[in-house]
Amino acid sequence: MARILVIHGPNLNLLGTREPQVYGQTSLAEINQDLLQRATMAGYELETFQSNHEGALVDCIQQRGAQAALLIINPGAYTHTSVAIRDAILAVGIPVIEVHLSNIHRREPFRRQSYLADIALGQVTGFGSSSYVLALQAACQWLQEQGARG
Ligand code: DQA
Repeated sequence: MARILVIHGPNLNLLGTREPQVYGQTSLAEINQDLLQRATMAGYELETFQSNHEGALVDCIQQRGAQAALLIINPGAYTHTSVAIRDAILAVGIPVIEVHLSNIHRREPFRRQSYLADIALGQVTGFGSSSYVLALQAACQWLQEQGARG
């Protein structure tokens, strides 16, 4: 069974209480639980990881990314700064979908820059916790198409 790895970056452990007007009221545990149920229904394994530390995110991509078929990642603020996370994804060679709860293109100018956008299959941004659900749907469809192609 193919595995989808979901990684959440810094401050996303505070979802639910963190700036709810921007990021919504759903907690990270609720998001992860929902994704797990949906992935299981679709016939995929799903593993989740959150860290506030860039190096821990890089370690996770290197170690767990090697066992996964696809990565869904919300790198949080590291989206806009981290060459290291970009390089880890390229090193492992894992297909990636970038996710944001808020629409990063409608916010401060510094959030429009993403170090992942040009290496991602796609970016889902601005739909609150539904961004993750949409990314998972896209992931399942993309993996099915890859399988169908053999
Ligand atoms: C975020 C957007 C980032 O700019 C911010 O630093 C985050 C969350 C989002 O999901 O909207 O931490 O990635």
